[in-house]
Amino acid sequence: MSIDDLSANEIEFFLQLTSQMRMMASDVKRTLLAGKILGSMFFEPSTRTRLSFESAMIRLGGSVIGFSDATNTSTAKGESLVDTVKTVEKYADILVIRHPKEGAARLAAEQSQIPVINAGDGSNQHPSQTLLDLYTIGQSSSLWSALTVAFVGDLRYSRTIPPLIRSLIRMRLCRFILVAPEALRMSRFPVDKGVSTFEETSDLRAALAQSDIVYVSRVQKERFADPLEYERVKDSYSINAEMLTSAKPTMRLLHPLPRVNEIHPDVDVTPHAAYFDQVEFGTYVRQALLFHYLGGKL
Ligand code: NCD
Repeated sequence: MSIDDLSANEIEFFLQLTSQMRMMASDVKRTLLAGKILGSMFFEPSTRTRLSFESAMIRLGGSVIGFSDATNTSTAKGESLVDTVKTVEKYADILVIRHPKEGAARLAAEQSQIPVINAGDGSNQHPSQTLLDLYTIGQSSSLWSALTVAFVGDLRYSRTIPPLIRSLIRMRLCRFILVAPEALRMSRFPVDKGVSTFEETSDLRAALAQSDIVYVSRVQKERFADPLEYERVKDSYSINAEMLTSAKPTMRLLHPLPRVNEIHPDVDVTPHAAYFDQVEFGTYVRQALLFHYLGGKL
């Protein structure tokens, strides 16, 4: 449901299982979840999260049923989320749910007899994304060194950034630099920041030059009550290759994707671009989650 439900040790366990999934030969993996069915329930648009969960299930030998557009289901006739869950659970062994309402996945999990994985609930949580972000950060940095991590963009509505910050605080020492326009600043700072520190700035270039990790997010258009407010802030920050010339050579630029205008495609060919690595790592993270929650042991 939430990355905050996992202890640092449990997060570490999933990151290790992710590495094992990454290393394992595909013909061995193909039998791990044979006969199991994933119910894939997406009430909100998705490309990577849905397709990577479905690909993960198929690559572990399982099958997938579900929907990517709830307007083609009985939801359009007025059926409740709980009734939909109570139905799909009869056809599947595990559910993955994305929903625009915060708390929807938890409600589903409380009603469901089978495991439920939250694939994003409103602006609240997106725990499999947090795991793949942590995995990607772990690939490019030593756990023991203090990290300077900049977060750029929509810190207010993003469901990936605040949980990632809280997880990093629990796992390692960080200096956080938050770069956002006034309207998109993080609404709540973590109560316990441990030994980590926070700075807020609007100086994107300075943040790019100082950071080991830069995590950029899309302005979350669908969460704005006022479309004019979105128009005002939508192009607040945009990073191109020229702006990275003063970055540390090892700096890695992450983005959960989709990007709109935040990262120019000319960044893709620089050694900083890590966002398509995140896409790949997401398939291993989701294999680890499906395998574990379906009772698999290596
Ligand atoms: C993110 C999401 O849905 O929260 N995308 C994703 O799952 N990779 C980020 C976003 O939509 O901006």
